[in-house]
Formats: sequence, structure tokens, C-alpha cells
Amino acid sequence: MNFYDSVKENRIIPVVKINDADKAVKLSNAITEGGINICEITFRTPAAPFAIENISKNCPDMLVGAGTVLNVQQAKDALDAGASFIVSPGMSGELCKYCISRNIPIVPGCVTASEITEALSLGLNVIKFFPSEAFGDLKTIKALSAPFPMIEFIPTGGISYENIDTYLNFKSVIACGASYLTPEKLIDEENFDEITRLCKISKDKVSNVYRT
Ligand code: 3PG
Repeated sequence: MNFYDSVKENRIIPVVKINDADKAVKLSNAITEGGINICEITFRTPAAPFAIENISKNCPDMLVGAGTVLNVQQAKDALDAGASFIVSPGMSGELCKYCISRNIPIVPGCVTASEITEALSLGLNVIKFFPSEAFGDLKTIKALSAPFPMIEFIPTGGISYENIDTYLNFKSVIACGASYLTPEKLIDEENFDEITRLCKISKDKVSNVYRT
């Protein structure tokens, strides 16, 4: 399944910080058992590219991408490792153009009208709204969607089991990114059953939420 369809179907993207790439396959399996088959491995640890490689080689049901990608070199490393999409916390024209030239989905972080305009000028209309709760949550997204009805937002940053449905109910929100599904501590402790449980209850919750 391509990135856009997967995002639209899953509606939740687990944002992962992983310290040990050897745990990546078990983590990926725990997420898919919970009913979610997309995840973003953040370039916040040296293990990230190796985790992406392990998942992309061994978990055919998982669409794995790279997150917290800040520059072209990290994007190259992520793509060499097998990442299917790139997520950045900010708007970098250089990074976006590089991903577009390689035909790889890129989701830049945008919170202002100017950043969204830049994304649009590059032909991108799916953006990460980050950090969502700190930048005015759904209120700001609603205000931005008035001049930008063609933009589909992926709010990330402060998304929880409690507030995810409120976001997903809004027509311009295609999905949410969240780290609460795959807490670093649970991965370190190999508590994969709990990760499956968190994914499952969240997937169940959002399955009945429609964009209105
Ligand atoms: C990210 O990189 O997308 C965020 O750190 C995830 O935000 P959260 O930890 O508040 O879910």
C-alpha cells in the first residue's frame, strides 16, 4: 500500500524512539498485532537506520518510515536503510526537494501559513502540524484550514489516547502521530504485549471516528 493510502487507513502513526535495533522486529510485530501497520522510526538515536533496515527487511506488513529527519544526509541514510517515507519536524526546502527528486513521500513540519505556503509551492499538501498541543492544537489547525482547505494535517506532539479522537474528527486531519503508543521505556523493557495493547485500544477508538 502506498504511503498516502496507509496513512488514511491507519489514522495513527506510532512515533518510535528506539535504542536497540535488535528489538525493532519484535516492536514492529507488536504494532501490527495491535492493528496498525505504519510506523515512524525517529533519527534520535544511532540505532534508527539499523532499526529501519531490520523492519523493512523482515516485516512485509509494516510500512516503515524515518522521522526527525533534519537534513539530506539523514534522508539518504534512511532511504538506504529502506525507509518508505520521510517525516521532518520542520520545513526544509532542500530536504523536501531531495525527497521529491527520489520520488519518496516527505511530510514536513509546518505550523504557520508561510510554512504551509512553502510546502504547497513544492507540491506537498500533507503536512505534520508539530508540536500540536503547544501551537494551539485543533484551534490553530481549524484556523489554518480556512485559507488552506487543500491541506491534510498530521498533528503530532502531545497527542494522547484521550485527545486523539477530537483531532481525527476534523475533516482536515488525515491522521495523528504519537509516541504514547510505543513508549521508549516499554521498548527497552521489551514489554511488547503492552505496546500491542496500547495500539489496539487506540486503533479501536479511532476506527469509529469520521472526518466531519
Ligand atoms: C515527534 O517527533 O513527532 C514527537 O516528538 C512526537 O510527539 P509526542 O511524543 O508528544 O507524541
